[in-house]
This record gives sequence, structure tokens and C-alpha cells, in this order.
Amino acid sequence: MTDHRPTVTDLLRVQHTEVRSLFAQIEQSAADQRAELFDCLRRLLAVHETAEEIVVHPAGRRLGDAADQVVDARLREEGAAKQLLADLERLGPDEEGFGSKFVELRQAVEVHAEAEEQELFPLLEGELGMGDLRQMGEQVEVAEAMAPTHPHPHGPESGLGNLLTGPFVAMVDKERDRLHAHAR
Ligand SMILES: [Fe+2]
Repeated sequence: MTDHRPTVTDLLRVQHTEVRSLFAQIEQSAADQRAELFDCLRRLLAVHETAEEIVVHPAGRRLGDAADQVVDARLREEGAAKQLLADLERLGPDEEGFGSKFVELRQAVEVHAEAEEQELFPLLEGELGMGDLRQMGEQVEVAEAMAPTHPHPHGPESGLGNLLTGPFVAMVDKERDRLHAHAR
């Protein structure tokens, strides 16, 4: 029987496309929509980065020293992006200075996503079998299903929207706890 489940790297590439599209939407958005779209972006990044941290990085580290260094490099990029996000959260979308910081974040996330697509994902695809890649994909889907990250279905009134609120760092902590609880 053909296995139609997507692989982890396919799913993460799709999420990268969503992230890029949200960045573009935010840059073109009217001022009154910016805060909501920025919240969507923060949630999407929290879910995505946490899933990578829990599902992808351990698998990468098991592939040996070279892969271990690739994971470390990605974590340093992630750390820089987290700092920029924290600065943006402190400023808020209406403040002067938000725009230029936002451009910095967009560039940092783009560099990070490209490095994953060109270095980390091919490593996993080269070393792991399709069965493993699909199983890891299921874990990422679980993470996403628990925290819908698309722009419309989660206004402030939605339960799942509420689950992922607060500063980015706090969202990542919550998401990490939920993923660990699910993996047990
Ligand atoms: Fe990524």
C-alpha cells in the first residue's frame, strides 16, 4: 500500500512558505491589521521552532558530529531571531522603530529557513528512511493540530488562540510542555 503521509521535511518546508507569506502580508498590511497578523506570526514561529527543536534536532544530533554542528548553528540563528522577536514585542506594532526591527527579523528568519532547507533537511533526507521521515512528520502535524496557526481561525476569542498567548518565549515554553506531554 502506498504511504501518502508527508515527510517531516516536506511539512516544515510548507511551514516555511507560510512564514514567508505572513512576513509579506505584515509588511503590506494596514496599520489596524498589523497587530493581529503579528500575533499569527508569533504563534506560527513558536509552533514551528518548537517542533523543530523537539522532533528534528534530536534526530539530527544522532547523525554524528557534522550534523551536530549543523544543529548548533541553527540554534544560534534561532536565538538571534528570538531576541529580535522579544524586542518587537516590547515595542509593539504601532511604535516607531518597529518597521526597521521587523525587517531585521524577516532577514534573520529567512537566513535561518534557507540554512535549514539547504543543510539540515538534506542531511536528514540522506540519512533517514522514508518511514522515519514520515513518522517525524506525524509528530510535527500533532504539534500543528494542537495550535492552529493560520491567520483567520484563531481570533482572541478562540480557545486554542488563547492557549498560545503572551511573549514569544512563554509561548515556546507552553508549546514545548504540550509536545513533551504528547510524546510520553
Ligand atoms: Fe524552520
